[in-house]
Amino acid sequence: MKDLENLDGKTALVTGASSGLGADFARQLAAMGCRVILVARRAEKLQALKIEIFERHSVQAETVAMDLSAPGAPQKLFDQLTAKSLPVDILINNAGYALFGEFIQAEWERCRAMLELDVMALTHLTRLFAADMVRRKSGWILHVASTGAFQPTPLYAAYAAAKSYVLYFGEALHHELRQHGVNVTVLCPGVTRTEFFGVAGQEMTAFQRLTAMDSADVARIGLRAMLRKRSCVVAGPVNAAVAALAPLLPRQFMADMAARMMR
Ligand SMILES: NC(=O)c1ccc[n+]([C@@H]2O[C@H](COP(=O)([O-])OP(=O)(O)OC[C@H]3O[C@@H](n4cnc5c(N)ncnc54)[C@H](OP(=O)(O)O)[C@@H]3O)[C@@H](O)[C@H]2O)c1
Repeated sequence: MKDLENLDGKTALVTGASSGLGADFARQLAAMGCRVILVARRAEKLQALKIEIFERHSVQAETVAMDLSAPGAPQKLFDQLTAKSLPVDILINNAGYALFGEFIQAEWERCRAMLELDVMALTHLTRLFAADMVRRKSGWILHVASTGAFQPTPLYAAYAAAKSYVLYFGEALHHELRQHGVNVTVLCPGVTRTEFFGVAGQEMTAFQRLTAMDSADVARIGLRAMLRKRSCVVAGPVNAAVAALAPLLPRQFMADMAARMMR
């Protein structure tokens, strides 16, 4: 990706950098010369990645162990980085998780915390860092949504609806912010091999195992689309074909199909 953009001297903030896609975004940005700020709750995982990144790429990484769903967390993170004079050129809004199962069976507190992270923290971080980027007339933002954003998804009802929000929010911002020199891209991964399914509480189905993509490949697709200033990218040709078909079919038909694939 070096041919696309020289990121030497740039700083990227990656949320959810302690595993999966977030760790791969951080590795790949560091490989492009970018200083990285790694945020997630598990401090020891962030520390291990910081050492790995320095050893492999001689790039400095900062770690911030923080629960982004806690009240006021995005503002606290922004203030912390401002106090350190660390302007963020690239914001990777990746932290997120899902709860698998019937909506009414989920404990409300777990559901609320998921929406706080997947929707509110992402939106608040964007508000804070995008305003700063607009002032500097330069910046990139990558939102991680999901192929679940394209249709109602039984057993992931609230999560998939939250990802529809992330998709439409990001695409609208792409339009609003491009005149200010700031690019917003939405990445929609399909099934990807990370800690996601363990956290969600779903044993992967045979179909999911068969179609799962590697997290490094998905991260690469997202960063490439961001550097090319695309508004949205769906990871992988099969996922892209399903996402293109979804709006052409009745939504309840798509919901039935999605439900079948979950079992
Ligand atoms: N894997 C898939 O099949 C798939 C498909 C579509 C979309 N996605 C999306 O891809 C993104 C990355 O997920 P992943 O697949 O890489 O899963 P993952 O391996 O479980 O990574 C999730 C990351 O989010 C962080 N996180 C969770 N809760 C947090 C909190 N309250 N505050 C701060 N950080 C928090 C986790 O770190 P800590 O636990 O250390 O906090 C971890 O670094 C998510 O937005 C997910 O919805 C994944």
